[in-house]
Amino acid sequence: MEQPESHEAAATADGVNRRRLLAGVGGLLAAGGAASLLASPAAADPSTRPDRDGRVEALLGKMTLEEKLGQLQLVGTETAARAALATGQLGGVFSVVGAAKLNALQHIAVEQTRLRIPLIFGLDVIHGYTTNFPIPLAQGASFDPAVAATDATVAAKEARRSGIHWTYAPMMDVTHEPRWGRIAEGYGEDPHLASRMAVAKVRGYQGDDYSSPDRLAACAKHFVAYGGAEGGRDYNTVDVSLQRLHNLYLPPFKASVEAGVATVMASFNTISGVPAHGNGYVLHDVLKGAYGFRGFVVSDYTGVEELILHGLAGDGADAAAAALPAGVDMEMVSTNYVRYGRRLLAEHRITRDQIDDAVRRILLVKVKLGLFEHPYVDESGEVKAPSPAALAASRQAAGRCMVLLKNDGPVLPLAKSVRSVAVVGPLGAATYDLNGTWAGLGTGAWTTPPVTVADGIKAAAPGATVTFTAGCTVDGTDTSGFAAAQQAARAADVTVVVVGETAAMSGEAAARSNIDLPGVQQQLVAATKETGKPFVVVLVNGRPLTIPYLHDNAPAVLEAWAPGVQGGHAIADVLFGVVNPGGKLPVSFPRAVGQIPIYYNHENTGRPADPANKYTSKYLDLESGPLYEFGHGLSYTTFRVDGLRLSATRMPARGGRIQVSAQVTNTGGRAGDEVVQLYLRDPVASIVQPVRRLRGFERVTLAAGASETVSFTLTPEDVGFYDNAARFRVEPGEIEVYVGTSSAATLTARFTVT
Ligand code: BGC
Repeated sequence: MEQPESHEAAATADGVNRRRLLAGVGGLLAAGGAASLLASPAAADPSTRPDRDGRVEALLGKMTLEEKLGQLQLVGTETAARAALATGQLGGVFSVVGAAKLNALQHIAVEQTRLRIPLIFGLDVIHGYTTNFPIPLAQGASFDPAVAATDATVAAKEARRSGIHWTYAPMMDVTHEPRWGRIAEGYGEDPHLASRMAVAKVRGYQGDDYSSPDRLAACAKHFVAYGGAEGGRDYNTVDVSLQRLHNLYLPPFKASVEAGVATVMASFNTISGVPAHGNGYVLHDVLKGAYGFRGFVVSDYTGVEELILHGLAGDGADAAAAALPAGVDMEMVSTNYVRYGRRLLAEHRITRDQIDDAVRRILLVKVKLGLFEHPYVDESGEVKAPSPAALAASRQAAGRCMVLLKNDGPVLPLAKSVRSVAVVGPLGAATYDLNGTWAGLGTGAWTTPPVTVADGIKAAAPGATVTFTAGCTVDGTDTSGFAAAQQAARAADVTVVVVGETAAMSGEAAARSNIDLPGVQQQLVAATKETGKPFVVVLVNGRPLTIPYLHDNAPAVLEAWAPGVQGGHAIADVLFGVVNPGGKLPVSFPRAVGQIPIYYNHENTGRPADPANKYTSKYLDLESGPLYEFGHGLSYTTFRVDGLRLSATRMPARGGRIQVSAQVTNTGGRAGDEVVQLYLRDPVASIVQPVRRLRGFERVTLAAGASETVSFTLTPEDVGFYDNAARFRVEPGEIEVYVGTSSAATLTARFTVT
């Protein structure tokens, strides 16, 4: 075995890398800066246990350099896995499904390699394994972390029992970019909402102990600022100030590390000139340093190799020499660590300590997964279809995610006694499109096709005549089916027009430059309107759409997102009022694509938009503000929020605490849900603050006429922010509090930070 490298070599390799990276982020991080970001690193991982660490050290002590480099390799096919196993150089496999296949690979690792180190098996279990839940963006709309926790709990059980150990979820990229297809995979535009949902999901996957046969190791992704892709084009450049990096993009990751997330995935983008895969500031200094993350960092798919095309590395060896010291522990698909590790070590471009640290982190997760005791899965327990309980959970979750954008008349809910319903629109009989992007096992044999909207309506109104007429395709130009759709609408009591996007129109590499309803679907809505008969529009989509036409012309609009395997039933539940919608928008809906980025948590300019003053921040040709604001969502009942109270008018910057409470009353005629939302604004600060930022929310269910007091506790952490040296500051002064039912809440109070 090789002799350890000298400390000098370690310092040099690390020093070069760090200098380069710090320069890349503006070199703003002072020596002590990172330490001031956070509480003590040791507190971050409650599962630290000396026996586990001892076991890892003992194993590490026996490993050759080749074996160590092998642990850093992750491959994505069975063929690649077998080839790598033949050389004894493989740490994990992803995207291979099937208990028997996985066991076969594990047998080779455990019986035919020298140290018998088990493989870790990963998969993108994003919103379900066999049971698809609504897409994450929809889950964000539930404003109910329990929805994310349920999805993760159900998925973890199904996947782990089928041989998977590790999911590449939750995705928690905050974004202001509805053109970006991957907005579907995260929780929208707000870091507080994204943090709460991500933490719930991490806990749902991992439980208290992810060695359990019902749990998975989670992966917080994509680290970091992937949602800032310029123009919404996937993988694109992100140039971001340190304050925005820390205030907007990093909070869900920090919260997930505090919740014990096992792994983190690096992102494809650059961060202020330095690709994440070679960015020692974010990976080494912030994640592993300031946040005290003890798990391992996996690259994204060929992310290490892509450092060449980014222009950070001249060749594969260079790429490995940038990525490993920066903090990428495991290389997905590309093979530069195993190929060049020995050479780079000899050339002092990486150090033995860096290799050991990466191996140690990977082995620790394998130990925590219990893989050394239980490398194989019981093939008889493999889950190939959703259980009735899982289906019921998915249906309930989908109902909680839907957002009633508009309901004039009100047209909804539909009467159960309706005699005839025309379902019109290309998504009215869609199956897999209802699952949206990253649907568990895809469209394969083990995936139950989702219930269509037409079938859901038939089941909900068994006495009614329900017809289906597509009218057009989702993105075609042919309008010849409009006449049949109009005929169906004329013949029915009410028409449900189901339009939106196919599953492939959002998700990875699915940016759209135009986020109107694709094809001639808007014209189909217009054709339906022409009949003069009552109708409602149901949207199935993975991102905000520009729908001023619907707002102006459709009597009711229900945002159903991609609702998952029980989609049709869940939509019918809401249409017929079995479920009273209570979801809220986790992202602003723009009026027009030219207005993007438009988000509620923006900074003020020195000339905030004023329609009466030309020289203010706005467009000549468009009304200011979004079509639907963040936090917006209606119900079949009505609510009032009043009685705002603060427990104190002063909050000491150290150890202060203020209780904010308000009363929410159901003022309508039926039970329903309201999400009480708390926003703060710091009107005078050394870094200008967002005009509002969400710091609390609670979804309550109230019977008609009932009231409830909702309370939030604010601490200095809620009023502070990171500055451009990445220091967390709590500044003295006034804080405005807003409480209400959307980001446009008007009920307000103030307190002073002292
Ligand atoms: C995506 C990741 C995903 C990985 C593995 C990549 O293309 O960016 O989110 O986890 O593939 O499938």
